[in-house]
Amino acid sequence: MYIKSLTLNNFRNYENEKITFSSGINMLVGNNAQGKTNCAEAIFYLCTGYSPRAGRDKQVIKNGCEKAEIVGVAESLYGEVEVKIIFTSKKKEVFLNGVPLDKIGELMGNINSVFFNPQDLKLIQQSPEDRRRFLDLAISQMDKSYFYALQRYRRILEQRNALLKHPDREVIFETLSLWDKELATVALKIINKRQEFMQKLAPHAIDAHAFISGGEKLELSLETPYYLGGGVEELIASYAEKTEKDLVLGYTTVGPHRDDIKIKVNGEDVRVYGSQGQQRTCALSLKLGELETFKNAFNEYPVLILDDALSELDKNRRNRLIDRLSGIQTIITTTEFISEFTPSNNLKILTVNSGKIE
Ligand SMILES: Nc1ncnc2c1ncn2[C@@H]1O[C@H](COP(=O)(O)OP(=O)(O)OP(=O)(O)O)[C@@H](O)[C@H]1O
Ligand SMILES: [Mg+2]
Repeated sequence: MYIKSLTLNNFRNYENEKITFSSGINMLVGNNAQGKTNCAEAIFYLCTGYSPRAGRDKQVIKNGCEKAEIVGVAESLYGEVEVKIIFTSKKKEVFLNGVPLDKIGELMGNINSVFFNPQDLKLIQQSPEDRRRFLDLAISQMDKSYFYALQRYRRILEQRNALLKHPDREVIFETLSLWDKELATVALKIINKRQEFMQKLAPHAIDAHAFISGGEKLELSLETPYYLGGGVEELIASYAEKTEKDLVLGYTTVGPHRDDIKIKVNGEDVRVYGSQGQQRTCALSLKLGELETFKNAFNEYPVLILDDALSELDKNRRNRLIDRLSGIQTIITTTEFISEFTPSNNLKILTVNSGKIE
C-alpha cells in the first residue's frame, strides 16, 4: 500500500500544498519548525482520523483561517482510495471516495500506517496507558469492530464510574450488576482481540528483536491480572470482587482499561530491569512486529511514518531498521539528509521550508 499524493489546505503552517510521493523512501528534509511533523501528522490523520499528537483537532486549522482540508490518494491491492478530512472549529468531517462517513471508525483500515517517533522509543519506560494506545491504534486499524468495542467500553465504564459515586448505596446495588454484565461482555471482546493481536505480533517482534540485539530473547504477553481465563461470568466475578474497593475510590479498578503489555528480555521484566538500550530495542521491535502483522493480515505493508525517529537511533539499530524497509513506503522526516539511502531505494527527497514542500 502506498500514498500517491497529499493535498494540504490551511492545515497547520501549510497554505496550499500538493505533494506526490514515491512508493519507496520519501525523505522530508528541513530545519526545525518548517512543517515536517505537520505533514507526517496529516498522513496519520488520513489513516486513522486522529492525530498522533495530543491536542484538539481544531488546532490543526491554520491560524487566522476558518477551515482546514487534507486529501490523500492511496493505492492498495484493493484499488485506489481517496480520503478527505475537513476541519472546522466545530467538527471534523471525513469523506471516503467522496462519500461522507457518519462514523469515524469507518475510516479505519482503508489506508494503514505505522507511526514511529522519538517518544515511541520510550514506549517501554512510558505508562501502561501508552502501551494500550499502541495496541488500540494497531488493532483498530486492522479491525473496526475493535474500535467500536473500545468506544462502547469507555461509555459503559464512564456510566459505571458515575454510579459508583452515587451517595445512596441501595441505588448503586440496584443497577450495578446490570452494568457489570454489559461491561464484562465488551471487556471480553477487547481482551480476546488484544490477545489475538499479541499472539500474531509476538513472533515477528521476537524475530526483529533477536536480529537487532544480536540474539537476546524477547517474550511478550498481554497482562490482565484481573482475568485469568474463562468467559463473561468469570469477568463479572472479577469486577464484582473489587466493588468495595471501587466504591471507596469512586472508579473501576479492574478491566481492559488497566491492561498492559508484559515484556521480558532474557527472562527479566524489561519495563523494570531493562537498560535504556534494551528498552529502545524492545520498542523498535514492537513497531517492526506491527509492520509484519499488518503485512500478514492485508497481504501488503502499511505506510511507515518515521517522524524524526532515525535521529534517535544509534548506528546499529538504524542500519538494521533501514535493512527492513525494502518494499515498504516510508515517509521519513529529518533535519539532516540521511546518506544511507540511495536512488536504488526509490528515493524521493522533499525539502520542507516554511510550509512549502519542493
Ligand atoms: N494551526 C497552526 N497554524 C499555523 N502554524 C502552525 C499551526 N500549528 C502549528 N504551526 C506551526 O508549524 C510549525 C512547524 O511545525 P512542525 O512540528 O511540523 O515542525 P518540524 O519541521 O517537524 O520541526 P522539528 O524539526 O523541530 O520537529 C511550527 O512553527 C508551528 O508554530
Ligand atoms: Mg518535527
